[in-house]
Amino acid sequence: MKLNNNYNNLEESYLFSTVAKKVSEFAQNNPDKKIIKLGIGDVTLPLCSAVINALHNAVNEMSSQDTFRGYGPEQGYDFLRNAIKHYYTNRNVDLDIDEIFISDGAKSDLGNILDLFDKDNVVLVPDPVYPVYVDTNIMAGRKVVFVDAKQDNKFLPMPDKSVKADIIYICSPNNPTGAVYNKLQLKTWVDYALSNNAIILFDAAYESFISDDDLPKSIFEVDGAKDCAIEFCSLSKTAGFTGTRCGYTIVPKSLGKLNKMWLRRQTTKFNGVPYIIQKGAEAVFSDEGLLEIRKNIDYYKANAKIISGTLEKCGIWHVGGKHSPYIWLKCPNNMSSWEFFDYLLNNIQVVGTPGAGFGNNGEGYFRLTSFGSKENTVEAMKRFESLFIK
Ligand code: MLT
Repeated sequence: MKLNNNYNNLEESYLFSTVAKKVSEFAQNNPDKKIIKLGIGDVTLPLCSAVINALHNAVNEMSSQDTFRGYGPEQGYDFLRNAIKHYYTNRNVDLDIDEIFISDGAKSDLGNILDLFDKDNVVLVPDPVYPVYVDTNIMAGRKVVFVDAKQDNKFLPMPDKSVKADIIYICSPNNPTGAVYNKLQLKTWVDYALSNNAIILFDAAYESFISDDDLPKSIFEVDGAKDCAIEFCSLSKTAGFTGTRCGYTIVPKSLGKLNKMWLRRQTTKFNGVPYIIQKGAEAVFSDEGLLEIRKNIDYYKANAKIISGTLEKCGIWHVGGKHSPYIWLKCPNNMSSWEFFDYLLNNIQVVGTPGAGFGNNGEGYFRLTSFGSKENTVEAMKRFESLFIK
């Protein structure tokens, strides 16, 4: 037996596990202190009533022999794939339902998709970015090259023609910086991918936070993208499915073999998302569901405003929060990301995510999420003021 030694090249633990461990140690040693968590992007509002009703109805169906369901199609039930197709039609993206694959979330599929690609491909990843892209490629022993996302390019790096890449990751709205590409910028990436015979893995997990109609929510709004991109989306942040688990991946047929390969991979290694959950997910795309989730997203966006307003008052440089649930700030007093993490935890018991965990360029930055409750967000920001406004 030989181990996969590529694991030796990973950080010892996954970013959010490290944060959780530090917070739990602090809580054990300080049981009287109220900790406010604005770290991992986990939602706090309950599932909306359209979803809850659909889940209840589906549970009832499971209790009767006539309507009980066992194994479902690995790629998802047609009722949900049709609802998603319709969601895309409304923004002028035409999909065939065979291009839509239901998943248990974007994170798993972003890792699983790598089964389709040879180890020798060169991977291009923005820095900083969601750590799953880098970690999953390190596990597979693939070469990763980075493209710098910095203040001077507004955290929206553009392709460098002299760099040859085969697999390109784009996350827009971006986790962690909240930056969003416009259509022209995405078109430049699409043209670059086409000219390199490369594939773009487009993470659209935060698309529902975009409030400007001119900004693309899907890469398929850009000409040529269906010939070079796979899109990953999730109901986690859109509809509060972080615990319920449901997402979808779009693999266009115009990518040639990839669509059939992904079906082959999923039918072999995945047994599909539970029927009950897919019924809940279908309800997200109903008129009632869409209205209800919009209210929830607006609630989180109001939290983002509270956070930005406070940072402004405290004189702390920050971006994001407008088309994204994340606020990306510069650690005051030249503190490193982890120093700032400890400083906040020890002094005001507010938890955020150290920017360094998202890549080298994240050092010196810090991420706060707007997914907390309004009460906790307000309280956390009062504590910020007490610490930074003397
Ligand atoms: C985050 O905080 O970056 C996300 O919640 C992580 C995830 O979606 O897996």
